[in-house]
Amino acid sequence: MTTDSKPSMHIDPYERGWMIATIIMLVIFLVAVTIAGFAMGIKVPAPVAQVNPQTVAQEGPFATPGLRQLAPGKYEAYLLAQIWRFDPTEITVPAGSEVMFYVTSKDVQHSFIIDGTNVNMQIVPGQISRLGHRFDTPGEYRITCAEYCGSGHAAMYGKVIVTP
Ligand code: CUA
Repeated sequence: MTTDSKPSMHIDPYERGWMIATIIMLVIFLVAVTIAGFAMGIKVPAPVAQVNPQTVAQEGPFATPGLRQLAPGKYEAYLLAQIWRFDPTEITVPAGSEVMFYVTSKDVQHSFIIDGTNVNMQIVPGQISRLGHRFDTPGEYRITCAEYCGSGHAAMYGKVIVTP
């Protein structure tokens, strides 16, 4: 009597194919994330500092929110989110400008999305969210709050005006 002593695992060819495809995709994603994070400098929006939401409107950069020019074509924009508007409501920059947005809330949780860009941040009271964008194409870019923040949520918007 003979038995096959070698253990063998049968893998269906289709399953084997998908296992290989999955491993290849994981490697591609890992390489893409590594290149995006370390070579291209693409970062997820992260809270950069803590503030006191009770006093943020009275002291510090959010007491006088708005646009600050750092150099030709380089700006910082401080926006204070609150029910139910962004302060300031609109900012204007020339085309080709790089703008770093600093946004916080003095009351409830909001969000900050600029249409047609990758700018999309949660705005949490007590934290400053930061994300930059370069505006190459002139036009109006709508800013919306996409976090339900109360009865006036749907009316909470602003705009970035990019002049030629
Ligand atoms: Cu602020 Cu919705």
